[in-house]
Amino acid sequence: MTTVRLNSADPVSIDTDALIVGFRSGQDGPSPAAGAETLDTAFGGGLAASLAALGFGGKPGELAKLPTFGSIAAPVLVAVGLGDSPDLEGLRRAAGAAVRSLTGTARAALALPAGTAEEAEAVALGGLLGAYAFDRYRTDGERKEPVAELTVVSGAEGAEQVAERAAVLAEAVTLVRDLVNTPPSDLNPAKFAEIAERAAAETGLGVEILDEKQLKDGGYGGLIGVGQGSANPPRLVRLSYTHPEASKTLAFVGKGITFDSGGLSLKPSASMDWMKSDMSGAGAVFGALVGIARLGLPVNAVGYLCLAENLPSGTAQRPSDVIRSYSGKTVEVLDTDAEGRLVLMDGIARAAEDSPDLIVDVATLTGAQIVALGWRTAAVMANDDAVRELVVEAAGAAGEGAWGMPLPEELRKGLDSPVADIANLQPERWGGMLAAGVFLKEFVPDGVRWAHIDMAGPAFNKGEPYGYVPKGGTGAITRTLIGLAERHASI
Ligand code: BES
Ligand code: MN
Ligand code: ZN
Repeated sequence: MTTVRLNSADPVSIDTDALIVGFRSGQDGPSPAAGAETLDTAFGGGLAASLAALGFGGKPGELAKLPTFGSIAAPVLVAVGLGDSPDLEGLRRAAGAAVRSLTGTARAALALPAGTAEEAEAVALGGLLGAYAFDRYRTDGERKEPVAELTVVSGAEGAEQVAERAAVLAEAVTLVRDLVNTPPSDLNPAKFAEIAERAAAETGLGVEILDEKQLKDGGYGGLIGVGQGSANPPRLVRLSYTHPEASKTLAFVGKGITFDSGGLSLKPSASMDWMKSDMSGAGAVFGALVGIARLGLPVNAVGYLCLAENLPSGTAQRPSDVIRSYSGKTVEVLDTDAEGRLVLMDGIARAAEDSPDLIVDVATLTGAQIVALGWRTAAVMANDDAVRELVVEAAGAAGEGAWGMPLPEELRKGLDSPVADIANLQPERWGGMLAAGVFLKEFVPDGVRWAHIDMAGPAFNKGEPYGYVPKGGTGAITRTLIGLAERHASI
């Protein structure tokens, strides 16, 4: 894991392998941003003009690398574009993109605008998240070490503390990315539960794990139904964090399908090869609980990881089977590929028993989310407008795209079943993301505030890396959940 520290020295004198500086874009070409002033002088004031000659305009995401020929202590200079007026997310992305371009370099220093503690935190966090690599399965010499040591140049008051916070947040996200990227042969429900148990012991979280027998005896028909086709049985993990001064309790519920083949309602191969990422919701909940505990936030938090593997076999559930949820409601399983809602209905009903002030479930729930909002914007639905706005706001502050979506009442009748209390699929395709939310809402007891985050797109980056986001598992929504805990903290 990459380390970060602060240094308030003049960046020209910092002993490092590469110095990252920011440039803003403007009508007259790139201009040095805060943090880059002394550097421009060290290069005789001609740095911006040389960069412009190379075609660098200072637009967000633009990068240029230059040898420094001894003009400053660092042998390499990395100019990164910040656009015309970067916000905190702009700083995170620029830091991430610059550090990501330096794989194979041991040490880098970031002299980006960091005049306030908030800005210093953004630079540190973006840099740490950009330094991610997942190559534990590589033997072919393609391994490239991410930057090991980052230095954030800042003299801001309180910057030491925020660097520490950035390190905790980055560690939580990294934990999630690693889990998402791990192949499903090495991350089945029991293995995930074991990893959570170990992390809980290290961070002082409470942990309870229900195995398949306990789930069956406990009436968790959704987890059992979805998991029964696999030789790797389901688990329900409950992680808990308490603080003596806390007055609020948050409950997070994550969809943890360690592999989603669709079950007997089998997916086509092209939709299946990335379904190791279908545990990203449980990943985010796990990462958030670890982060909340490390930060010692004055709030109580419980996290439920609803873990199962959705496979077809002679023991798999069949389309038209009726299962009984933990809440007691019966569900007709019309499509075994709509399995996320079946494990979440058990998790949500169980979470309600903790009498939380708010339940938030997180899931890679529907392809319809990607149709509606694309790859980078998660959908937020809720049974309370203020709760929905709070979640959208927390996501925005974390730089994680999220947008509020409705739960239209008229969609409920599409889920009527001729044999059970509710069906897991509506007959038509349209509004599939909302129908899934309407289904889940049925399992939230009256009077309990609840929000649902569908992040089917944002959880996994099938395209090229961008900003601080790598290819593969992104760790999306982990920081949003931690932000929600901060917003519920006492004192
Ligand atoms: N895990 C999938 C949803 C998904 C799709 C996540 C693409 C990430 C990327 C989910 O279990 C699923 O299969 N949903 C079905 C629901 C349908 C059968 C109602 C879908 O979206 O097609
Ligand atoms: Mn599915
Ligand atoms: Zn799924």
